[in-house]
Amino acid sequence: MDEIITQPSAAPVIQALRSIGYNSQTAIADLIDNSIDAKATKICLEFSYNEGNGSIKIIDNGIGMDEIELQTAMTVGSKDPRDKRERDELGRFGMGLKTAAFSLGKRLTVVSKKDSKLSIRCWDLDYVSKENEWLLYKSIPVDIALDFNEIHGDNGTIVFIDKLDRFCGYGTNNIVKSGSFFSKVSRIQKYLEMVFHILLERELLLDINGNQLIPWNPFLEGNPRCYEGEIQYLQSNGKKVIVTPYVLPHPSTFNKRKYRELGV
Ligand SMILES: Nc1ncnc2c1ncn2[C@@H]1O[C@H](COP(=O)(O)OP(=O)(O)OP(=O)(O)O)[C@@H](O)[C@H]1O
Ligand SMILES: [Mg+2]
Repeated sequence: MDEIITQPSAAPVIQALRSIGYNSQTAIADLIDNSIDAKATKICLEFSYNEGNGSIKIIDNGIGMDEIELQTAMTVGSKDPRDKRERDELGRFGMGLKTAAFSLGKRLTVVSKKDSKLSIRCWDLDYVSKENEWLLYKSIPVDIALDFNEIHGDNGTIVFIDKLDRFCGYGTNNIVKSGSFFSKVSRIQKYLEMVFHILLERELLLDINGNQLIPWNPFLEGNPRCYEGEIQYLQSNGKKVIVTPYVLPHPSTFNKRKYRELGV
């Protein structure tokens, strides 16, 4: 049969990928999933406003990537979702790093250190769009100042996102005010305290702009008025799912401040 290789066009595909169902909270959580998959025990997030020309930086102490691994990681669709995953592996599609980052901003720089060796890659969507080619930089653009020493030790990764058009209106007439920028950061913090509460209760250290995250358990475990029901075992796709039901205490048992704090 006659056939012809038909490559997708870079500029429209990348624009379409920017709109895959993330909000800023789920995007940041997806990037943290990657650090957790890389066995990180300490993850530092930095949100910098800089009058709308700011950045988001995630530094982890995970296993890091060598040059080939980083090249694969920066490729859109680097994994077959049908492949068998490790029992506790969170990543599945080989998309999250790129799509989550691009849902926030137009430039994604990753510096990774594995066995003391640094590797660098950077996507700049302005450049991809201009050239309409999947052109990935192998060095850091001159206007980005990154301190590699922020990776302490021999392994770890820095994910740096700037040109934050989606997150704070960079390059548009709608640059968000600093107050809204930091309210967004606070909401992200609350969300992460809930989503990662089990890991935060264990060994994970996670901070945002130097503030340590405190686990928030939505089931109020430990509250004497909270009722833990009988565990149920369900089957789904041949896998066992364990479900523990909770009945939360009546709202009238909290004062106003505590009620708001607990978010029940
Ligand atoms: N912080 C990190 N440290 C080490 N390796 C990483 C890090 N972030 C990404 N990677 C590597 O890059 C790969 C691609 O990441 P990406 O998030 O795009 O896909 P995924 O996690 O495999 O799947 P999903 O699309 O479901 O998130 C990962 O499988 C992992 O090998
Ligand atoms: Mg991922």
